[in-house]
Amino acid sequence: MLVLGIESSCDETAAAVLKNGTLLLSNVIASQIQIHSKYGGVVPELASRHHLEAILPVVEEALQQAGIELTQVDGIAVTQGPGLVGCLLVGMSFAKALSFVTGIPVVGVDHIAGHLLSVFLSEKKPPFPFIALVASGGHSSIYHAADFRTFRHLGRTRDDAAGEAFDKVAKLLGLGYPGGPLIAEQASRGKNAIAFPRSWLEPESLDFSFSGIKTAVVNHVKSNPEVSLPDVCASFQEAVVDVLVEKTIRAARNTDITSVVLAGGVAANRRLREHMTNRCNEEGIAVFMPAPEFCTDNAAMIAMAGYHKLQIATPPDYEMDVYSRSQAATLPS
Ligand code: KG4
Ligand code: ZN
Repeated sequence: MLVLGIESSCDETAAAVLKNGTLLLSNVIASQIQIHSKYGGVVPELASRHHLEAILPVVEEALQQAGIELTQVDGIAVTQGPGLVGCLLVGMSFAKALSFVTGIPVVGVDHIAGHLLSVFLSEKKPPFPFIALVASGGHSSIYHAADFRTFRHLGRTRDDAAGEAFDKVAKLLGLGYPGGPLIAEQASRGKNAIAFPRSWLEPESLDFSFSGIKTAVVNHVKSNPEVSLPDVCASFQEAVVDVLVEKTIRAARNTDITSVVLAGGVAANRRLREHMTNRCNEEGIAVFMPAPEFCTDNAAMIAMAGYHKLQIATPPDYEMDVYSRSQAATLPS
């Protein structure tokens, strides 16, 4: 079965072809980073316009690299939400139109479900059930995954997402956008020398809060203008990673689950991967993570989630609409 995945929720226009839910035949990503970096963040209106320009060539390239014709595709999976509505509409309208003219079934896929299943693009695949941390620019949440389509929310951020904290701190430090890789690069040359606060919230809480640390970094830099930038970045990164790792381990312990999955753009962070691996080893927990290129937004993960949804799919719903936020505790996978 060949699934064409389409992703356009934020600033990446992406398409991928996945065979039988296992073999990735192509994975094309047109990034808009250069367009948005001068504004220090994604400008929604510009992003939608660039998706419009990129979507057709990106899909054509994905089919070409996979060595297939559109008529050979068995199902189309498109990101339905959460994300920027104008951006999502480009992918959704395109996917519906493709489906309508070809008769190929189309399914809408939740972007977070895509992140949760991105680990199945790797060689080392987790058994169900597992606990997953999804840390990205828009989300920092912990999930219980029972199977390919059943995910339960255990904790979420109450303010900024982890990636958003990286992006905002990088902007305040004048490093640029997106902040995650830029902070990580500075941090690799610095020491964890400043004790920035960790926001643990209530003792048993699996929620996150990252807005306080952002203020702490700004205040520290203001009152210590000579401070080493790499040290600030290393200490900030350590504080964020510490909370992400300990809360994920707590979720695994509370549920007696011994497999942990790391996903979302922040999961590309080397220090997070290393610290999570060390702590999971100490706790006797097996850890699984996608390769860094499958942590950040891509359409291979959407094709993966779509493949599993298509197994139980009903006729295409051409009335389906995009959504900006996930509200349900259980994801509409
Ligand atoms: O999953 P993603 O590509 O898009 C969303 O769904 O939001 O995540 C993007 C986020 C950005 O905030 C970016 O700064 C962060 O992931 N990120 C990183 C790293 N690479 C990307 N954060 C920390 N370290 C990284 N190496
Ligand atoms: Zn994402």
